[in-house]
Amino acid sequence: MNYIEKIDESAKYVLSKLNSKPQIGIILGSGLGDLAEQVEDAVVIDYKDIPNFPVSTVAGHKGRLVIGKLEGKRVVAMQGRFHFYEGYPLEEVTFPIRVMKAIGVETIIVTNAAGGVNRNFKPGDLMIIRDHINFTGKNPLLGKNYDELGPRFLDMTNAYDKELIDIAKKSANNIGVNLREGTYMWLTGPTYETPAEINLAEVVGAGAVGMSTVPEVIIARHGGMKVLGISCITNMAAGILDKPLNHEEVMETSERVKETFQKLVKEIVKNIH
Ligand code: HPA
Repeated sequence: MNYIEKIDESAKYVLSKLNSKPQIGIILGSGLGDLAEQVEDAVVIDYKDIPNFPVSTVAGHKGRLVIGKLEGKRVVAMQGRFHFYEGYPLEEVTFPIRVMKAIGVETIIVTNAAGGVNRNFKPGDLMIIRDHINFTGKNPLLGKNYDELGPRFLDMTNAYDKELIDIAKKSANNIGVNLREGTYMWLTGPTYETPAEINLAEVVGAGAVGMSTVPEVIIARHGGMKVLGISCITNMAAGILDKPLNHEEVMETSERVKETFQKLVKEIVKNIH
């Protein structure tokens, strides 16, 4: 089976479980998966049951699609995503995005846990992604281009939709959340960065660093979907503060801000036309 046939087969399976097509896709980052519990009239599909889907391995990541209504909009939430550092090829990391497109999704909200590079940020801040820097040298579009899925040479000028950023800001304002903004820099992980790398990230204007999101955004844009990105700043990046990093801090912070995060995403979903 070729790539296109695989996408079609997965999409058909997902659609066979649904009465109506979702409009908005939400990718839930590390520690942010609980938002899926708020989806109403949910149809839950385990990744392992979807033909051709990869299966997630990281502790704290559930592997399922939760499809239903959030704030009156039809959504599909990915509870658990695939990371390049887990060893999945980027074609697999981004496969769910292709399937989302194939089942009718037009807008994607991508979320992640990230390390704060901007010294004005503090752990617990939420950052709207204005742009990104791919610092990996990897790209999910390397190789054969499927012209029926999108263009060979993809414009990334407005990868992060201006109108969605506006909606996010207004939504944050409505609910009294102080939103940050910045550029997200993707490194493969799984090591956290060195202080020297964070120094470089700061010099090139990154607001935050993380190990996900960029491949999914590239594929969403390839498929012509609109993208909004939100980073939860779970820790200050290496060397910004005089202390070592650990995964526990990342999980603790996302746990602490998850209610605000959920409120914000719901308000954004409500305000997307
Ligand atoms: N670096 C990279 N990825 C991350 C970090 C970080 O400091 N925090 C959460 N995800």
